[in-house]
Amino acid sequence: MTLATRISAAAFGLALTATSAFAEDCAAVTVEDQFDLEADQIVALYECLEETLIEGYGREGDEIGANYRSWAPTSTRAAIQGAHGNRILNTFANDIAAEQYLKYEEEGFTMPVGSILAKESITVSIKKKKARPGPLLMMTKMEAGSIPETNDWLYTGVQPNGKTMKVKQSFCHDCHAPYEDSDFLAYPMEEVRLGQDQ
Ligand code: HEC
Repeated sequence: MTLATRISAAAFGLALTATSAFAEDCAAVTVEDQFDLEADQIVALYECLEETLIEGYGREGDEIGANYRSWAPTSTRAAIQGAHGNRILNTFANDIAAEQYLKYEEEGFTMPVGSILAKESITVSIKKKKARPGPLLMMTKMEAGSIPETNDWLYTGVQPNGKTMKVKQSFCHDCHAPYEDSDFLAYPMEEVRLGQDQ
């Protein structure tokens, strides 16, 4: 809703009800399987919840949660890939990570120390016929040799309400293990990857 519509709606005393009714409707899911969602439906669900995500992740002052949206986007749009609980995903890369990450190289590199990837997620519930904000999932590259079990990646998360998520390192890393050649990065689906020059 633009500011102008918001103000004119407020003039009729409708602002609040109209805004919440709209938010309800645009998060509705009508398909029987999340993989039946078309690209434009995924984008519409994402746009519906985008502001809620940003506001929620930053609410408790988490440093990444409050800042990741000023980082480099890595995808042309949010997408469902199948991992991460069949969620709609959208990843951002900080300044240190962006140059290397956006090459989507398959082998022969290690991400620079201080690299951070932050992935927004939206949970699609077929049962509840509704999409809702999921956690912000993050990977931070620590000093070389500091966490041998994860090749120095620290996996963290922020809940949709801004609170820190308890994250079991092995849970995250075990699933990222097949991507060892690309320093455990799995990357967005090829069709939505955003190159550096775009
Ligand atoms: C079931 C397998 C699986 C689990 C478990 C998993 N991931 Fe991932 N992760 C993936 C895949 C596949 C991608 C790439 C998907 C995409 O971006 O579309 C990915 C991407 C990411 C990215 C973006 C960087 C990249 O790899 O391109 C971050 C950040 C991330 N995961 C964090 C986490 C955290 C934190 C946890 C634990 C709470 C976790 N992941 C658990 C499979 C998994």
